[in-house]
Amino acid sequence: MQASALRSALRNSRQPIAQAGVARRAYATAKTQTLKERLAELIPAEIENVKAVRKEHGAKAFGQVTVDQVYGGMRGLPALLWDGSVLDAEEGIRFRGKTIPDCQAQLPKAPGGSEPLPEALFWLLLTGEVPTPEQTQALSKEWAARAQLPEFVEEILDRCPPTLHPMTQFSMAVTALNHDSAFAKAYQQGISKKDYWGPTFEDSMDLIAKLPNIAGRIYRNVFGKGKLPAIDPSKDYSANLATLLGFGDNEAFVELLRLYVVIHSDHEGGNVSAHTGKLVGSALSDPFLAFGASLNGLAGPLHGLANQEVLIWLRKMKAQIGDDISDEKIKEYVWATLKGGQVIPGYGHAVLRKTDPRYTAQREFALKHLPDDPLFKLVGQIYKIAPDVLLEAGKAKNPWPNVDAHSGVLLTYYGLDQMNFYTVLFGVSRAFGVAAQLIWDRALGAPLERPKSYSTEAIKKIFANKP
Ligand SMILES: CC(C)(COP(=O)(O)OP(=O)(O)OC[C@H]1O[C@@H](n2cnc3c(N)ncnc32)[C@H](O)[C@@H]1OP(=O)(O)O)[C@@H](O)C(=O)NCCC(=O)NCCS
Repeated sequence: MQASALRSALRNSRQPIAQAGVARRAYATAKTQTLKERLAELIPAEIENVKAVRKEHGAKAFGQVTVDQVYGGMRGLPALLWDGSVLDAEEGIRFRGKTIPDCQAQLPKAPGGSEPLPEALFWLLLTGEVPTPEQTQALSKEWAARAQLPEFVEEILDRCPPTLHPMTQFSMAVTALNHDSAFAKAYQQGISKKDYWGPTFEDSMDLIAKLPNIAGRIYRNVFGKGKLPAIDPSKDYSANLATLLGFGDNEAFVELLRLYVVIHSDHEGGNVSAHTGKLVGSALSDPFLAFGASLNGLAGPLHGLANQEVLIWLRKMKAQIGDDISDEKIKEYVWATLKGGQVIPGYGHAVLRKTDPRYTAQREFALKHLPDDPLFKLVGQIYKIAPDVLLEAGKAKNPWPNVDAHSGVLLTYYGLDQMNFYTVLFGVSRAFGVAAQLIWDRALGAPLERPKSYSTEAIKKIFANKP
């Protein structure tokens, strides 16, 4: 029974006392249930749900595939299943039906905080339900308990030259965690297919739990920021992450990280990092191998690395134009970028056709916490100019800003101004969505992915003599 149904059963005063007692006990259980226990309850019904959908609709066509989609990066091709989040071109992302403002209003927060806790978002992604504050706190504790890295992973990171990009170090460390994968071990021992999701869940929890230690270690090693402090089991995930990066005393920065992780966690199933994780996971590679691959996709400048590129682009603009940045000068700079055959980083999107609500959420955070910051003002000024230039240039289907146009400015404000580290924070966040997806893929028995490729000659032959 759903917690909400139990609550309403308890509210019903005409209920026989014995029945109310049962409901009360069940509600108490629901309130204290762990995430894994709740998932174990939800999975059988979802397996039946999927079976029913496939039985009724399995043989129906989903639409037409055009040759352009084959050449054009599969834009819009219905090809993947993921219930955790859905992206609408006009409205933006919804996590299990909830917009970013819904999540900000409804998900549990830290005491005194106003941003949603990523722990609660992970619960929502996996179950479609909002956890209680107790369940949210239990996840914070469980992740803190699982946070320690194997010594050899620490050594790998400590031996990396500081010139090795933080994303490369990040992906190496995550991949190496496969050494202790519960799934890989269970598979070797002959686990039954119907039980795959259990060790996948355990690996996913370990993966998320260990990311702050990996990110913190990379940050401190690369930028000479001293020794990594220990994880504090009484603190939430973002507070610990902030502490490991050296910003734990700044409560506004911790709030920023909570919002940051939530909005970067998932963006439906087709983006490069989410899809890569799913694809690699479909070979039954464990969550560490699958997410390591996701990170390598996220490290590309058209995807997650764009947050780094935005800051580089802004700094170049300032260096070129000087402090007196007029609208006209910005317009010239945007045009010069386009004429140089480069993209405007932080603008455009493969699916979105309006301003990204993740951009808006960060803008609202900035209006609340740093309204007078010059770099924030510059980002706002560019927002008024770049879309018109992109429209006039006439190529980009979406001239509006995406999530990456804003994140670096916020981090810079709080002193995290090493921009080649920014995509690591995106990566920490994206683990939440990829892990949730991997768990459900194993629960639903998702098969090996294997789409068909065609040669240009084959395509010519297929359509020869056809209008
Ligand atoms: C995100 C992105 C890769 C989407 O690509 P897409 O789905 O192919 O986008 P479109 O269909 O609008 O692309 C059509 C054309 O407009 C160009 N375009 C799209 N966004 C552009 C931008 N921000 N600046 C300049 N040109 C852009 C594309 O490069 C493409 O040019 P081409 O025909 O010469 O190949 C693209 O918008 C981009 O490169 N943005 C900048 C990088 C960025 O911010 N990435 C983070 C995304 S969250």
